[in-house]
Amino acid sequence: MIQVIKPGKLKLGVLASGRGSNFLAIYEAIKEEKLNAEIKVLISDKKDAPALKKAEERGIDSVLIDPALFENKESFEKRIVTVLKEYEVDLIVLAGYMRLLGKTVLKAYPLRIVNIHPALLPSFTGLDAQRQALEYGVRYSGCTVHIVDEGMDTGPIILQAVVPVYQDDTVESLSERILQEEHKIYWQAIKLLSEGRVYLEGRRIIIMDERKGAVNLNMMKKLKQS
Ligand code: GAR
Repeated sequence: MIQVIKPGKLKLGVLASGRGSNFLAIYEAIKEEKLNAEIKVLISDKKDAPALKKAEERGIDSVLIDPALFENKESFEKRIVTVLKEYEVDLIVLAGYMRLLGKTVLKAYPLRIVNIHPALLPSFTGLDAQRQALEYGVRYSGCTVHIVDEGMDTGPIILQAVVPVYQDDTVESLSERILQEEHKIYWQAIKLLSEGRVYLEGRRIIIMDERKGAVNLNMMKKLKQS
């Protein structure tokens, strides 16, 4: 079992392609001192992403990295990594980033990238998750915060929240109900990481409470010493 991140204040780099409401929820949690972290930079791949403006208005550096200006995905992602390193980011937060991350970013930040997905993974991966859930006819859906690996929405799950799906739901009404939960669980998952309470065993995330955490840490110390 490995501790995913050691406890301490986290420097966040947010990647967003759109509206930026999850970015805002995290920003507010930090402002209200519920989350011990700092958003160093927001990067977007879309020049008209409202998230860029939301960051600027709050005095957070925002950087547009337009994939059309790069020869291939690798050079595009190298630029992303360069910017993240410049800002000394230690956790990448995907907040409505609508591209599959490639090897370049994944290798530079192993176990240091989190994503929020608007469905109960492993169901309904990829685009239009809320529509997929509605059309499938599930009675419950929700959202998932997970660590990013090379797959599409496949990494180890940190937190999930469940919402009911009503018979008269539209994609919009269901998306809105899920979004309310996204805004609650994303910063909470980052908080658990910043408290050093998130451990990985195989592909399972184990979240320690403080007491159990101490016991386990001592056990690991003992193992190291022996
Ligand atoms: C959120 O619902 C998020 O879960 C989803 O995009 C929306 C972004 O909203 N992400 C994905 O579908 C990723 N596969 P926001 O820009 O207001 O945070």
